[in-house]
Amino acid sequence: TAPRTILSGIQPTGVPHLGNYLGALANWVKLQHELLADVTIYYSIVDLHALTMPQDPAELRRAKLDMAISLLACGVDPKRSVLFEQSRVPQHAELAWVLNCITPVGWLSRMTQWKSKLSQNKPGTPSTHAQSIQDSDLTSGLRMGLFAYPILQAADILIYKATHVPIGEDQTQHLELAREIAKMFNKMYSKNVFPLPEGIIPSSTKRIMSLRHPTTKMSKSDPSDATRINLTDPPTLIASKFSQAMTDSERGITYDPVGRPGVSNLVTIYAAMRGIDVDAVLRELGDVQSNRVFKERLTEVVAEGLAPIRTESERLRADEGYVEEVLRDGAERARESAETCLREVYEVVGL
Ligand code: ADP
Ligand code: NA
Repeated sequence: TAPRTILSGIQPTGVPHLGNYLGALANWVKLQHELLADVTIYYSIVDLHALTMPQDPAELRRAKLDMAISLLACGVDPKRSVLFEQSRVPQHAELAWVLNCITPVGWLSRMTQWKSKLSQNKPGTPSTHAQSIQDSDLTSGLRMGLFAYPILQAADILIYKATHVPIGEDQTQHLELAREIAKMFNKMYSKNVFPLPEGIIPSSTKRIMSLRHPTTKMSKSDPSDATRINLTDPPTLIASKFSQAMTDSERGITYDPVGRPGVSNLVTIYAAMRGIDVDAVLRELGDVQSNRVFKERLTEVVAEGLAPIRTESERLRADEGYVEEVLRDGAERARESAETCLREVYEVVGL
């Protein structure tokens, strides 16, 4: 088989939640063990993407470190994959500029995430001159970065000539855009510089819903959701969050995401944490009648599953020097490959 290059990125949102873990990170760890021959894996903390939304600088720096620690604690292994911060590899931004210059504006304005941002934010009337910038201009209004970030995302992938990109189902449009940009570049310069990256949608990943509102996904972007489980939550906190999970008055455990979204979400979590399928969970919990008992059993399974991650996070937090060394080494390895590609691109376009 041809050599493969895999790239995946995650925003520096601090300690990941259970949805991030079961929907993405558990698979990152698994990929490292499944595809050993002739594979290079890049895992990027995409801090440049974080700037598309307002950030407090000190908070962002802390969130980056928390994410790096969490990734290592989950099992991302610097011996098997290249773990790095995006901003330390300037070739991402440099390639993004070249791609900005060939990507039709229409390709970006049809992105569904942009369209929903556009409909939530009235464009407003920002000051037209820097001299008259109002305080409100600093915090409101749509920014170019939010519009153009899918091009940076394409650059993240193409700069390593990645062949495979593990994605969630909500990211297929972005990968499709990256393929179209690669095609456009190759065609414009009559040269096959970029392979067309393929998506891997792993069968093992699960979409985890909010415990409180089981019809919306568990997400960091809902700060009011106090039931979101973070990977470093201690068992007592996990218990208290599950105890607040919305269920229903039916007795017994069944799996029916439409009719019983709350209970079914808990079944999904139980199955994913135990590494078994839903039918096996229903057999295992066949004797359980009350939601309270179900939640207690679930708490045990989740607390036990997260315990090693929590312990390892604590150990790494006390050894920031090591984490910094891993990130420095990862950026160096990433830069080496990214620089080779960027040189080829500059050569092809005439720079
Ligand atoms: P958030 O919605 O918390 O901001 P991100 O959008 O940063 O999360 O997603 C980071 C990764 O985690 C992506 O691969 C995404 O598909 C995955 N992910 C996020 N939330 C969930 C969830 N509730 N269930 C499954 N996967 C999720
Ligand atoms: Na998000």
